[in-house]
Amino acid sequence: MKNIVVLVSGSGSNLQAMIDACEQQKINGTINAVFSNKADAFGLDRAREAGIPAFSLLPHDFSSREAFDAQLIQEIDAWKPDLVVLAGYMRILSPLFVNHYAGRLLNIHPSLLPKYPGLHTHRQVLENGDSEHGTTVHFVTEELDGGPIILQAKIPVFPEDDERDIIGRIQHQEHAIYPLVVSWFIEGRLTMQGNTAWLDNVQLPAQGYAAD
Ligand code: GAR
Repeated sequence: MKNIVVLVSGSGSNLQAMIDACEQQKINGTINAVFSNKADAFGLDRAREAGIPAFSLLPHDFSSREAFDAQLIQEIDAWKPDLVVLAGYMRILSPLFVNHYAGRLLNIHPSLLPKYPGLHTHRQVLENGDSEHGTTVHFVTEELDGGPIILQAKIPVFPEDDERDIIGRIQHQEHAIYPLVVSWFIEGRLTMQGNTAWLDNVQLPAQGYAAD
């Protein structure tokens, strides 16, 4: 069984989708531990409910981002992870962390990258009157939300939508595509080579597997 460690900052609905996928053997791996930078992240409760060890590390206990990330690396590595999954982990990672897990670090970002990196993606979509939005699973590199794209899912945006409508539609897609990508990685089908993502020995296009 391959080892997976998940990092969360909030509700952890993507973590839950992965827990469910592991239980249903759609992912042939084990979530060994969950870490958060927030003591009250609901994702930690979800992990404990599923019998997964869950821990928080609080940034204000550390003198710098590097010191925090160095301790996080040490604690994560105790679980010997084959894969580290960011599931709504809302903290910028140091190059130290990103390079340590290069090629085995995944993130999901709620936009059709490279459009709208960073925060408040849903608000920007509404403000700009976009008719389409989506979510992206990618390998993490030092460039914020800039690593090789693996898979995207698109959603329509309707004129009467508010942010909550969009988030609901996005998360529905996320809970389908993120466990799928994790299963590809765990099965050894997905790799990062240089700054590109490969699936079944085929280099994925810039917009990932679902590019049209
Ligand atoms: C997800 O929608 C994810 O795309 C987003 O946070 C949400 C977490 O939800 N991630 C980012 O914005 C990362 N930049 P969850 O805690 O319910 O899984």
